Amino acid sequence: MRLLLALAAGLATKAQPQAPLQGITTNGPLVHRQTFDYIVVGGGLAGLTVANRLSELNATVLVIEAGNDDRKDERVYDITKYGAAFSSDLDWHWPTADGKAIMGGKTLGGSSSINGATWTRAGREAYDALPRFHGGIQGEGRWAWDSMSAYMRKSEAFRPPEAWQVAAGAGYNPSFHGGNGPVQTRFSAGMYRGGHQAAFVQVMSGAGVQHISDGAGGVGAGVGWHASSLDSGNWRSSSATAYWTPVEGRSNIAVLVGHVTTKIETEAGTTVRAKGVSFSGPSGNGTAYAGADVILAAGAIMSPHLLQVSGIGGATELKAAGIAPVLDLPGVGRNLQEQTMSTIAAPRVAGYNVNGTGPSNMIAYPNASALFGNATAFNQGVAANLSSFAEAAFKAGAAVSAEGALAALQIQANVIKRGAAVAELFLDGGWPNGGLGINMWTLLPFSRGRVVSPSSSAVYPRIEPNFFSAVADMQIQAAGVRLARFAFASAPLCDFVGSETMPGPQVGGDDEALVPWIQYNFGTVSHPLGTCAMMRREWGGVVDSNLTVYGTSNLRVVDASVLPMQVSAHLAATLYGVAENAADIIKDAFVARRTGLAVDVTSSACRRARTLFW
Ligand SMILES: Cc1cc2nc3c(=O)[nH]c(=O)nc-3n(C[C@H](O)[C@H](O)[C@H](O)COP(=O)(O)OP(=O)(O)OC[C@H]3O[C@@H](n4cnc5c(N)ncnc54)[C@H](O)[C@@H]3O)c2cc1C
Ligand SMILES: *[C@@H]1O[C@H](CO)[C@@H](O)[C@H](O)[C@H]1NC(C)=O
Ligand SMILES: *[C@@H]1O[C@H](CO)[C@@H](O)[C@H](O)[C@H]1NC(C)=O
Ligand SMILES: *[C@@H]1O[C@H](CO)[C@@H](O)[C@H](O)[C@H]1NC(C)=O
Ligand SMILES: *[C@@H]1O[C@H](CO)[C@@H](O)[C@H](O)[C@H]1NC(C)=O
Ligand SMILES: *[C@@H]1O[C@H](CO)[C@@H](O)[C@H](O)[C@H]1NC(C)=O
Ligand SMILES: *[C@@H]1O[C@H](CO)[C@@H](O)[C@H](O)[C@H]1NC(C)=O
Ligand SMILES: *[C@@H]1O[C@H](CO)[C@@H](O)[C@H](O)[C@H]1NC(C)=O
Repeated sequence: MRLLLALAAGLATKAQPQAPLQGITTNGPLVHRQTFDYIVVGGGLAGLTVANRLSELNATVLVIEAGNDDRKDERVYDITKYGAAFSSDLDWHWPTADGKAIMGGKTLGGSSSINGATWTRAGREAYDALPRFHGGIQGEGRWAWDSMSAYMRKSEAFRPPEAWQVAAGAGYNPSFHGGNGPVQTRFSAGMYRGGHQAAFVQVMSGAGVQHISDGAGGVGAGVGWHASSLDSGNWRSSSATAYWTPVEGRSNIAVLVGHVTTKIETEAGTTVRAKGVSFSGPSGNGTAYAGADVILAAGAIMSPHLLQVSGIGGATELKAAGIAPVLDLPGVGRNLQEQTMSTIAAPRVAGYNVNGTGPSNMIAYPNASALFGNATAFNQGVAANLSSFAEAAFKAGAAVSAEGALAALQIQANVIKRGAAVAELFLDGGWPNGGLGINMWTLLPFSRGRVVSPSSSAVYPRIEPNFFSAVADMQIQAAGVRLARFAFASAPLCDFVGSETMPGPQVGGDDEALVPWIQYNFGTVSHPLGTCAMMRREWGGVVDSNLTVYGTSNLRVVDASVLPMQVSAHLAATLYGVAENAADIIKDAFVARRTGLAVDVTSSACRRARTLFW
């Protein structure tokens, strides 16, 4: 035994990587042909979270990020400049097949560096349903609420509101929040105190949406003030500042910025092994190798695209695009779920001062009972039409089979029955046009879309969201618009605004008038997910509950792509929880592998170890 251990130590010594790379680099040739234990593709929200945690191991980590390090760019750090990054060099701005666009951060920190900093969690019913997608038990296991809420708290350092913020409405329950995590969360220094937010709460309560003082504890449906991801200086707290800045001095982790990963290099076998990745950028092209895992964190649009251009996807679609299939995995890119936004606006009455600046934090999250007055008819309609939604998804190429789509949609319908919020009404102060606005979107759409790569060299995939292909989505959207219009027209909120200007009085309240207005004017929310779903393979899933791509030994996905269904919240808080959870799974596997190395030098575990380190 002692000999075996000594041999193992000998093996491990040779495993030392070459020239230690650390910090941020723009130098592709430096990375070219180097081997790292882990390669993380995409230095966004999930990528930097996972990379940070893996660097706690005795392991080397390389992150490759397409964008640059823009932490010192005011469009990134100054949350009052929210929107300045849109359509700029910091935004991928993927066009969709239906003429819209989906935004995403192309910069260190990814979308967490350009997002609105709203910090919200869904209700426990959403997380408790996640295990059912991969064959687990409702409410059990590491993806259900108890475990996910612990991971979400792990990522968070919440600072309670000051007295004036409590007076302005901020409520909190300390047991719902983490105190020592990397992401700084608090109520904004510019919290709005003019009175319109409290009036909105009153109107919503009257409409059956109860006031919740803190929505982070498992009951998300309600109306109230929500915190933001901001640090003590009221600057943005992103994955770049929270998970990269503190570890950038570590000697075992580096980020290659300004370089796009173009391909996952694979080795065929009974299971496919990811050898490494190729990248391309201003400093040249290159390939880096992974001793342990290749971890995709390029987001819900680019992770499935990268899999497809690398030959991992539906063989039929791949061949049609001239891509040689490596692994037939038809779920890749399907099951896309993006949300639809309508904006309702009214001017401020003369002299009204919103008395605040920066991100608004006032959100109403009606569940189906609150939105429709009585959810029975809606739920019955959904149940009656669910198989036609599934059929439509399959016909559109957005599901591998109608049966698979139906199984997933059934879980979602059940989450709605359990009281999950189905719409978001986000109240803005001073926007649009200096007035008040409500951005309203459908949270749990039944429509499914897809991301499909047109060729092996395509930079962008084709994105087909199929918005409103399920009629239930338009029912929710129209009801949400009606609720927003009702809010502006009702006391006491109507004391703060003049007559509605958007859609305006010329647009009637019945479906005949409202639906065409919605169809013509809606925008996207830029919350895409589901395209590499953690779901049973036969339903169209792409990763198992360890986030390993089916049919591969060491290729994982850890970003928004893996959520099989939308959650009733903005996504960041949930995705930090997903990434923290993923990091623990990968760390456990690393430790298990090293342990295996020490006790079993002569077995196949030893041969695996050699391929790991040489
Ligand atoms: C405009 C906007 C506003 C939002 N507002 C909020 C909000 O207020 N609150 C909230 O909770 N959520 C919000 N979100 C959503 C949230 O920020 C995202 O859902 C989340 O960041 C997604 O995390 P991710 O890790 O999946 O992807 P991302 O954070 O987008 O990271 C993906 C990274 O991969 C990189 N990448 C992509 N392709 C490649 C490639 N081929 N090679 C190398 N790198 C690549 C990208 O450049 C990016 O850095 C918003 C999103 C947007 C776009
Ligand atoms: C770290 O790993 C290397 C081999 O990869 C090994 O030589 C070294 O002893 C390890 N250090 C610790 C503290 O475990
Ligand atoms: C570098 O990669 C890009 C994108 O994959 C490709 O178009 C180009 O031909 C490559 N250049 C070289 C020198 O290999
Ligand atoms: C904002 O409200 C606070 C508290 O009511 C008040 O003290 C302050 O003067 C107001 N500021 C402006 C600019 O109206
Ligand atoms: C909702 O509607 C159904 C069917 O019309 C009815 O049976 C039920 O009592 C209603 N529920 C409430 C809470 O009003
Ligand atoms: C179900 O389908 C019928 C017929 O197409 C339609 O009238 C009804 O509105 C649908 N209900 C829902 C909830 O989608
Ligand atoms: C829906 O929300 C209302 C008010 O916010 C709440 O009273 C009700 O219990 C919720 N319904 C379900 C099914 O949870
Ligand atoms: C996930 O990994 C654990 C630990 O290695 C293993 O026991 C489990 O079987 C794996 N689950 C799946 C679905 O492969």
